[in-house]
Amino acid sequence: MSKYLKTLLRGTLPDDELKLLYSSYDIIGDIAIIKIPEALMNYKNIIGKTLLKNIKNINTVLMQSNPVSGEYRLRDVDYIAGDEKYLTLYKEFGCKFLVNVATSYFSPRLSTERLRISVLVKPNELVLNMFAGVGTFSIVMAKKKPLKVINIDSNLDAHILDQINSKINGVQRHIISLHGDARNILQKGNYLNNFDRILLPLPEKAYEFLDVALSCLKQSGGIIHFFSHVKSDAKKKVVFESEKHIARLFSERTCDYQILHTQIVRDVAPRIYQTVTDIQINKL
Ligand SMILES: C[S@@+](CC[C@H](N)C(=O)[O-])C[C@H]1O[C@@H](n2cnc3c(N)ncnc32)[C@H](O)[C@@H]1O
Repeated sequence: MSKYLKTLLRGTLPDDELKLLYSSYDIIGDIAIIKIPEALMNYKNIIGKTLLKNIKNINTVLMQSNPVSGEYRLRDVDYIAGDEKYLTLYKEFGCKFLVNVATSYFSPRLSTERLRISVLVKPNELVLNMFAGVGTFSIVMAKKKPLKVINIDSNLDAHILDQINSKINGVQRHIISLHGDARNILQKGNYLNNFDRILLPLPEKAYEFLDVALSCLKQSGGIIHFFSHVKSDAKKKVVFESEKHIARLFSERTCDYQILHTQIVRDVAPRIYQTVTDIQINKL
């Protein structure tokens, strides 16, 4: 589509500047989010209107002005064309997610990973999603299998959307959503030795929460889905680097672990990759 966008803009933008247009953008529900290089800022409205006119089912175009950042992992977005709104309904695998793209984290690029984990989960498991966002991973799995999930998120907007999304998808009896810091909630509540499976989808900081996650897995053991960011100049080394990092984390801990699987989830920046590792834990 970017090539197509470039074709559409040929004649409107000078050729030299057209070359600078980024090669991808996100579509979340009926909102398109595009990054525009500084040198093309004067053309942002024309780029927005061109997207609006030519992509089916898009009602709003926003420009992402900063990378995802902060505790809530938000992107700065500015309105450039169409209806001025930030709330939209996104659909995948028979699930619907109400998302506010300005006040809650959401990435359509994780959909394959959401599906992958939902296939691994077994019926009747008790699952903890420590960084649930608007509920995406938990809802995809709860729609597929009868299980119980505890969702935690510290962002109030994400937490409210998570509760709404559980209802929209008819899984509210299977998901309990809690608002607050995951560590505080888990340490103060009655969650020790409780869960069959724990998701840590906060790649920048998951390692800081590993101890609390381990303490909440069942005494008989369980699975952790551990997300990380790995810097590497060679893509083929990323899985190895990721597993090396995990080995280092576990070398300081007294539980048995076995890495079941590691893969790249997506590229997040030049030479930075998001990875996920499925780890079987046996508590001693
Ligand atoms: C990268 S997002 C992932 C959200 C969701 N799992 C998804 O994939 O759509 C990480 C989420 O963790 C939340 N978060 C960050 N620090 C947290 C903490 N200490 N306790 C609970 N939630 C936290 C953020 O608000 C954000 O929604």
